[in-house]
Amino acid sequence: MINEEITTLSTQIEEDRAIDEENNKSLRPASLSEYIGQDKVVETLKIAIEAALQRKEPLEHILFNGPPGLGKTTLAHIIANEMGTRIITTSGPALEKGGDLMGLLTHMEKGDVFFIDEIHRIPKIVEEFLYPAMEDFAVDFIFDKGVHARTHRYRLERFTLIGATTRSGLLSSPLRERFGITRDLEFYDERDLVSIITRSAAILDVSIDKEGAYETARRARGTPRVANRLLKRVRDYAQVRADGHITGKVAIEALSLEGIDEFGLSETDRKLLRTVIINYKGGPVGIEAIAATLQLESDVLIEVVEPYLLKMGFIIRTSQGRKASEMAFSHLNIPYRGAFEGPGLFDK
Ligand code: ADE
Repeated sequence: MINEEITTLSTQIEEDRAIDEENNKSLRPASLSEYIGQDKVVETLKIAIEAALQRKEPLEHILFNGPPGLGKTTLAHIIANEMGTRIITTSGPALEKGGDLMGLLTHMEKGDVFFIDEIHRIPKIVEEFLYPAMEDFAVDFIFDKGVHARTHRYRLERFTLIGATTRSGLLSSPLRERFGITRDLEFYDERDLVSIITRSAAILDVSIDKEGAYETARRARGTPRVANRLLKRVRDYAQVRADGHITGKVAIEALSLEGIDEFGLSETDRKLLRTVIINYKGGPVGIEAIAATLQLESDVLIEVVEPYLLKMGFIIRTSQGRKASEMAFSHLNIPYRGAFEGPGLFDK
């Protein structure tokens, strides 16, 4: 019964992930030596992996935090690869009941990597099963209710939990404290993105020059997943509208057709900035109000859209809410009025 449930659950999880990952599988680095960027994180992992292998022990639990597309899942797969273990993947929202988690945990083999994506979205009741699993490698089954309640402690193999989150602030402290290694992944600089695009182009057998790689990198929002997606759009364009070779000019033309400007901002990003500037006089405005105006979920704004705008300085976070920076005004060709005193654009 439990086995059947696990199979169904795992199949579902694998299917969901496959849709997202199918395209990028071949572009993913399989080892830390192939991994570009995040130098400090990679160094920490190399040391931890080598030490664990020498001691013939499983790795400590690891938490990766950061915006989507920066390599959290890729790193989890690389870690399993380098440790020579299996990786069992699931996600916070897929673990609805304690039983979903139990089923996976009780089938873990020694050293297995158990990867939980979006770990901040684990339901509270499921999270509580994780504590003894992470700390004592045991789970407590409860039989019956009330006066007849009995618990049975079930021993687990020593495994490594790798959690990925875009919102580490939403993790409860007991959960956060049970990770031995916690690392924030940062946006990639242009140089690293150029290297990633050049590597991906070689794998895809696309011809690209330095300027082509640079113009694509510049528009990739500091994010390898975006870089690889843009590369594919640029490749199509080069094939149909040019001679198949990606130059700077080809990349710029292809990406402006996609509505992506020279800072990598999409129509959604510009809409958000315009909303803050026009509807809310430049801010400060709460994220919920922006989300309502744009008819987007505030979680999507906070986790996906906003981090890059904050990093680039288009948006400033204050205690009263978000404000558009002077740079945001100038990027949208709107005259800047810092504190919005006196008559002007917004008083009509
Ligand atoms: N593809 C996606 N992310 C990558 C990275 N960090 N290094 C190399 N190739 C990648």
